[in-house]
Amino acid sequence: MVRVIVVSSGKGGVGKTTAVSNLAAALAGFGKKVVVIDANLTTSNLGLHFGVPLNRPTLQDVLKRKARLEQAIWTHPAGFKVIPADISVSKVMSAKPNQLLSVLNRILSDADFVLIDSAAGLCQEALAALKAADEVLVVTNPELPALTDALKLIKFAEEYGTKNIGVVLNRVNGKSHEWSDEEVEKFLGAPVIARVSEDVAVQRAIAEKMPVVLHNPGSRAAREFKELAARLAGIKFSSGPSWLYRLWGWLVR
Ligand SMILES: Nc1ncnc2c1ncn2[C@@H]1O[C@H](COP(=O)(O)OP(=O)(O)OP(=O)(O)O)[C@@H](O)[C@H]1O
Ligand SMILES: [Mg+2]
Repeated sequence: MVRVIVVSSGKGGVGKTTAVSNLAAALAGFGKKVVVIDANLTTSNLGLHFGVPLNRPTLQDVLKRKARLEQAIWTHPAGFKVIPADISVSKVMSAKPNQLLSVLNRILSDADFVLIDSAAGLCQEALAALKAADEVLVVTNPELPALTDALKLIKFAEEYGTKNIGVVLNRVNGKSHEWSDEEVEKFLGAPVIARVSEDVAVQRAIAEKMPVVLHNPGSRAAREFKELAARLAGIKFSSGPSWLYRLWGWLVR
C-alpha cells in the first residue's frame, strides 16, 4: 500500500528538502517506486536539489489547471519521479495549496512512497501538506529554537490525525551542548528515528544538484540517510564498517 509521508518542520532551514531528496534517492535504490512533490509553494527549491530543468510545467500549473499532472512529472535518472514547484516570484502563492489532495489522489496508484516536501512552520501551505498526508516525518536540529517549533508542529499533526513516524535530528555535530535523543524524545513526546550528521558532503552534493546518497554514497550523512530510508521501507540494511566508508568518502573527494 502506498505511504504518503510529509516531511515537515516548525523552524525553517533545518534540512527538510535535503531529507526528502535523499530519502527519494535511497528508497529508489532499494527498488521502491517513489514520487516526490514539492509542496513548498512560496520558497520552493526541491527541483534545484535534483537539477530539474526550470522551463517545465510545475505543481502550480497543475493546481491552476494550466498543465496536466503527467506534464509536470519529471523522472530523475535514479528512477524516482518529481513534481517540482515553480521558483519564479510571479507564480508564488498564485495556486491554492488546499487543492493538493486532489493531485495526490491521482498519483497514488503508481507509487510505494509519496514524499511531500513541506514549507516550514504553520503557514497555510505547510498545514495543507500536513493535512493531505497520512504520516509526518518531523525534521529538526538538536537545539532549543528548532525543537520548540517542532513541538508546535507535532501538536498540529495530532490535531489533524496525521501519524507521527518520528523525529529526524539533522546537522548533528556530537557537541556536548546538543540535545541527546532522550532529551528530545522527552521534550517532543516522539521517538528519534534518525540522527544525520553535519557533513560538508551534503553541501557539496547540493552544489552539484544531487542527493548526497548518489553524489557521495560513502559519506557519513549518506549512510545515515540510507539507514533511515531502510527503516521507513522495513528493509534490513547495514551501511557496513564506518572505516571502509570513510576511506571511500576520502577517495571520491
Ligand atoms: N546534514 C547536513 N550537513 C550539512 N549541511 C546540511 C545538512 N542538512 C542540510 N544542510 C544545509 O542546510 C541547508 C538548508 O537545508 P534544506 O534546504 O534542506 O532545509 P529546509 O528545512 O528544507 O529549508 P526551508 O525551511 O527553507 O524549506 C542546505 O542547503 C544545506 O546547505
Ligand atoms: Mg525546503
